[in-house]
Amino acid sequence: MVTEHGANSPTTETEPEVPEQAGKILGQFAGYVGFKTIEMGLSNGLLAALNSHPDGLSVDDLAAAAGTEAFYTGVWAKAAYAAELVDLNDDGKYVLAAHMGKLLLDTEFPGYVGGIIDVFAQPDMFDKFSENLPTGERTSWDKVSPEFIQGVSGTGGPFYNRLIPGGFTNVPGLVEKLESGASVLELASGAGRGLVKLATQYPKVQIVGLDGDAHSISLAKERVEEAGLSDRVDFLESTLEDLDEYDKYDLVYINISMHEARDTDLATKNIRNSLKAGGIFVISDFPFPEGHEGLRTVPARVMTGIQYFEAQIDDQLVSTETFVKLLKDHEFSDVDSFIVTPVHNVIYGTK
Ligand SMILES: C[S@@+](CC[C@H](N)C(=O)[O-])C[C@H]1O[C@@H](n2cnc3c(N)ncnc32)[C@H](O)[C@@H]1O
Repeated sequence: MVTEHGANSPTTETEPEVPEQAGKILGQFAGYVGFKTIEMGLSNGLLAALNSHPDGLSVDDLAAAAGTEAFYTGVWAKAAYAAELVDLNDDGKYVLAAHMGKLLLDTEFPGYVGGIIDVFAQPDMFDKFSENLPTGERTSWDKVSPEFIQGVSGTGGPFYNRLIPGGFTNVPGLVEKLESGASVLELASGAGRGLVKLATQYPKVQIVGLDGDAHSISLAKERVEEAGLSDRVDFLESTLEDLDEYDKYDLVYINISMHEARDTDLATKNIRNSLKAGGIFVISDFPFPEGHEGLRTVPARVMTGIQYFEAQIDDQLVSTETFVKLLKDHEFSDVDSFIVTPVHNVIYGTK
């Protein structure tokens, strides 16, 4: 830095000090330790054991309950305490911190975030990106591991749980259509969680699940069969870009996948064609910040992590504004959006 006198000055009033900058780096390392602590706590049953013992467990009792070794269990417990996942109760025993059981273990809780661990821990997420960083080599859903697909489905679960029925009630006129027996298309239905959720919630609807990936379709079929819903759910193996149906559906919806369309305009044109007049299109997706200013928040930083995988399948999460403009450009009416959580927005419009 050159001062007005031309001398070199190590800092200015606004320039942060070295310890402050080092703290930003160390904060990332601490986050990594916390991530690994949650991962180990889930995979070794330590968090589940604490969840089943609300009165608390000593290290030895925790080790006995989880089937882990006592010394190692004590090391884990201190890291979990440091990360504020667990607290100590008045008896000096470890207990799960408030709401951690629901947030990390209860897959049906709308705020469940434990599924992210299964996705972020897969090599498909960061390792493959790093391996292919020099070449930019892309992949596709039919080449990612079955474990990754299951992990993504686990992460999609809370999005569906927030959307059906809660999110849908915020879309004017939609619940009436569903309750009276609508014809519905779920796009990019993946492993079928949304199909089962919607068919169960609204017993009069008929649903078609569309996905471009054969393995995902077979997982969804299994799930629908297990739920005893095969008479009301059909399947269509197709890309969004090849969808070729007309005036058929009262509702078309898509969960955490619209950003993956290869050709967003063609997909949106096809979606509009497939709707009946007055039919509603609902996009449930991650709201990636429009510009750099929004990136330095915890939710946005998690989404920048998701972008590493999205890049490998040749797309990126986009902003809610982008989807609103898309629907308006394709002459949907009553286009609007709402925030569900900091990582979940809903955008909708009517044909
Ligand atoms: C992130 S997963 C989400 C799956 C499901 N909606 C959920 O929330 O669990 C994305 C899904 O979109 C499908 N997909 C991606 N691009 C597609 C396209 N252009 N046409 C049809 N399906 C597509 C993939 O095969 C995958 O099943």
